[in-house]
Amino acid sequence: TKPGTMFEAIGGFDSIDKLVTAFYKKVGNHPKLIPIFPDDLTETARKQRMFLTQFFGGPRLYSEERGHPMLRKRHLPFEITPERKDAWLECMNAALEEAEIEEPYKTAIFEKLTMTAHHMMNTP
Ligand code: HEM
Repeated sequence: TKPGTMFEAIGGFDSIDKLVTAFYKKVGNHPKLIPIFPDDLTETARKQRMFLTQFFGGPRLYSEERGHPMLRKRHLPFEITPERKDAWLECMNAALEEAEIEEPYKTAIFEKLTMTAHHMMNTP
């Protein structure tokens, strides 16, 4: 693990795991998100753990397995409306609290994910 990365600052794999687990529990119960996600979120969560590890400066696990993230393209099969974007961010904000990610990292992560989430919208 490289020192000085967000990944390291928040506590590495353990923290990513807590965050992602809390996040998909909320996604799986959110009426606006249920229709586009699979019933079993195990594999989705596994990919997200790899992605966020890499996104926050940790080992490049996602790209080693799946290549270039191309996240906007990978999301095109799903109708991502402004309402679903807000729902996704609402789940993430609650998960950041639940996983006890501390300031200033919590706000920095939420801002980075907010920008990425905006980029993922593909349906009015
Ligand atoms: C996959 C929804 C934003 C990262 C998915 C899937 C859905 C989805 C439905 C497919 C799940 C599956 O079939 O397993 C959404 C919605 C978003 C959003 C509604 C709201 C804006 C984001 C953001 C990120 C992200 C902001 C990154 C920070 C991923 C990753 C995958 C994924 C890494 C797995 C891609 C793969 O197949 O390799 N998302 N997503 N998503 N999402 Fe999102």
